[in-house]
Amino acid sequence: MEVNTLTVTDNRTDQTYTLPIVDGTVRSMDMRQIRTSDDDFGLMMYDPAFMNTASCRSNITYIDGERGILEYRGYPIEELAERCTFLEVAYLLLFGELPNESQLKSWVYEITHHTMLHETTRQFMEGFRYDAHPMAMLVSTVAALSAVYPEAKHVHDAENRLQQIKRLIGKMPTVAAMSYRHSVGFPYVYPDNDLSYPENFMNMLWKMVEPKYAANPVLARALDILFILHADHEQNCSTSVMRSVGSALADPYLSVAAAAAALSGPLHGGANEEVLRMLDEIGTKENIPAYIQRVKNGHGKLMGFGHRVYKNFDPRAKIIKRTAEEVFRVTGHNPKLEIALELERIALQDEYFIKRKLYPNVDFYSGIIYQAVGFKPELFTVLFAIPRTVGWLAQWQEMLTDSEQKISRPRQVYTGQRSRRFVPMEER
Ligand code: MLT
Repeated sequence: MEVNTLTVTDNRTDQTYTLPIVDGTVRSMDMRQIRTSDDDFGLMMYDPAFMNTASCRSNITYIDGERGILEYRGYPIEELAERCTFLEVAYLLLFGELPNESQLKSWVYEITHHTMLHETTRQFMEGFRYDAHPMAMLVSTVAALSAVYPEAKHVHDAENRLQQIKRLIGKMPTVAAMSYRHSVGFPYVYPDNDLSYPENFMNMLWKMVEPKYAANPVLARALDILFILHADHEQNCSTSVMRSVGSALADPYLSVAAAAAALSGPLHGGANEEVLRMLDEIGTKENIPAYIQRVKNGHGKLMGFGHRVYKNFDPRAKIIKRTAEEVFRVTGHNPKLEIALELERIALQDEYFIKRKLYPNVDFYSGIIYQAVGFKPELFTVLFAIPRTVGWLAQWQEMLTDSEQKISRPRQVYTGQRSRRFVPMEER
């Protein structure tokens, strides 16, 4: 008997099947042969919310949730966050290798020279109501870029794809910043190509009447690190949407807009805002034990703790915690950080949380940093969307060039009624 196989006995028929195991998986399609009769459809796997189903092969991001490991293209996230810029990491995610000096120089040049929006896109953004949520503006504007670049529909043309990828990475901070300026009623600021990627974003957000915006280098670096940490996270909800919409061969602007829409949900990109709300509710360090007790009694959740794939520390949380300390040296003392640190300390010693493997995740500290740097909570998901665009695009490319992929089409288990007699209106 071949070792790398799974033997399944169907007790309905007493038949035994031998299924190959490759890379720790069996193919769902191999289940189809398990049938009770010739007209039986065959066995399917039932997996709501994809708790244990791999939808693709990928060599972009590796996560070991049990050990708290995250790697992009094989490089530990800790090293990338410490030694790279976000655009360097974007290159790595998209092309599989770290760029050399001249590759990085031309990559940065090209992204920087795609930061401008077509004037009609700027006008499109002006059409939103004064109180439009920045994320709603971002999703709609990215979708609208599909109308500006109709050639983007040729998704099987590699050169064309790369052009759209550069445009999206370049324009995302511009759209994000304009959506913010719109929400506060400030005039839009055009990109400044002398500045680095995070500095230019800060410039477009906060420049007022000064002739040239000068970003605080510590804050700009913190933002760049946060971008690196959020760039990809394998098959999370929004990335699955990107792959799914992209599998229908929708163009990258529409696919990214769909992915960003998924990210806007409070269970995905909005989770750090929930952490801030919880810290506000706790109010002071003294209230922490009572709050923890309430959570243990089943009233409320410890926001920013636990993750679908990490059953250990989210490695991004450790890096963010260090970054938070650097940011607060610039922005000054923040009582929320103290509450967060104390909450983490107490929760990590508590059997209840240890047993449930509830450790701080990436959202636990990111919202506190964003707030300290001066971002309004409405902007948090927009901040997440900027770097995640790189991950979405890398995964989209991989999907398009994977010969095993087809249009995404899950199966269902139908539980409704069948073959009913139609009831005419007068009998209802
Ligand atoms: C992410 O980075 O996308 C979030 O942690 C959610 C996830 O991975 O499921």
